Amino acid sequence: MRVVSGMRPTGKLHLGHYIGVIKNWKKLQNEHECMFFVADWHALTTKFDEHINLKELSVELVKEWIASGIDPNKAILFIQSEIKEHAELYLIFNMITPVSWLERNPTYKDAMQQEEYKKKNNAGFLTYPVLQTADIVLYDADLVPIGEDQRPHLELARDIVNRFHYLYKREDIFKEPKELLTDIARLPGLDGRKMSKSFNNAIFLDETPEDIWKKVRSAKTDPARIKKTDPGHPEVCIVFEYHKAFSTPQEVAEIENACKEGSIGCVDCKKICAANIEKIVAPIREKKAKLKNDEILDIINEGNKKAKFLAAEKMKKVNQVIF
Ligand code: TRP
Ligand code: SF4
Repeated sequence: MRVVSGMRPTGKLHLGHYIGVIKNWKKLQNEHECMFFVADWHALTTKFDEHINLKELSVELVKEWIASGIDPNKAILFIQSEIKEHAELYLIFNMITPVSWLERNPTYKDAMQQEEYKKKNNAGFLTYPVLQTADIVLYDADLVPIGEDQRPHLELARDIVNRFHYLYKREDIFKEPKELLTDIARLPGLDGRKMSKSFNNAIFLDETPEDIWKKVRSAKTDPARIKKTDPGHPEVCIVFEYHKAFSTPQEVAEIENACKEGSIGCVDCKKICAANIEKIVAPIREKKAKLKNDEILDIINEGNKKAKFLAAEKMKKVNQVIF
């Protein structure tokens, strides 16, 4: 089975990415043939006017993947914009995709409710899922690990594949990809909203122990707990969510009891939590500090070469059918 997945280079990775994506990629790389890529063209669909340094962000992202345990000897790591075939297939798919299919995509509809996106309303944002389809079927992906919000994009990918086969009277050019839903609950940010750099509520994968503690100390807890002996409700506490993600099952059970019966204070509970987060972050932070940019560039070059080979083969077939 081949697994293909991408991540947009929009800034430093945080614990939300680790729990939601990286942990899963680390498992998948041992089970399947994996291709993970930096979706830098996709970043441009919303950030074209922000003058972000995509080259630097992309190298940094691959560095963070490797520091977190993604293994370039197991998975092919590459940069989307280095493989021009993504753009070529995107162009072909744009020809055959009805605009109405794109306009009913929930992500697009939601964005059009927001002033910021409505004002821009760029064609590239509307056609985002067409590019994503090209990313996936260019490499005959069997499985695409995604979150629930991306499910309509995979449906659209299958629709585009079927339409291509129907229009060109073939059925053997592309594979129909299947989604691999990650069932891990989303990790909340320190304030209870979704963890995101832009909300300033994230713990990053290269955070120092001092900053981990500062951030965990500031996290929202059960407001009913004022004195240490007040019985608490772990199910409403963000720190407890972190325990569930980063502490052992035994610790989680003990903390749940101690909180409910009012025998542990929130500061002590947070200290255990910060220490367990540090256990995950420390090796990532240390490995990241040791990785040199040149090393990462070599890994990317290797990955690009492998991706380029597969993409060129596929485009040869596609063009033979069309021209
Ligand atoms: N849309 C994905 C996201 O926002 C990123 C992405 C781009 C992707 N191309 C992809 C994911 C292909 C899986 C497969 O997270
Ligand atoms: Fe949250 Fe822990 Fe305080 Fe309970 S003891 S409210 S789980 S921080």
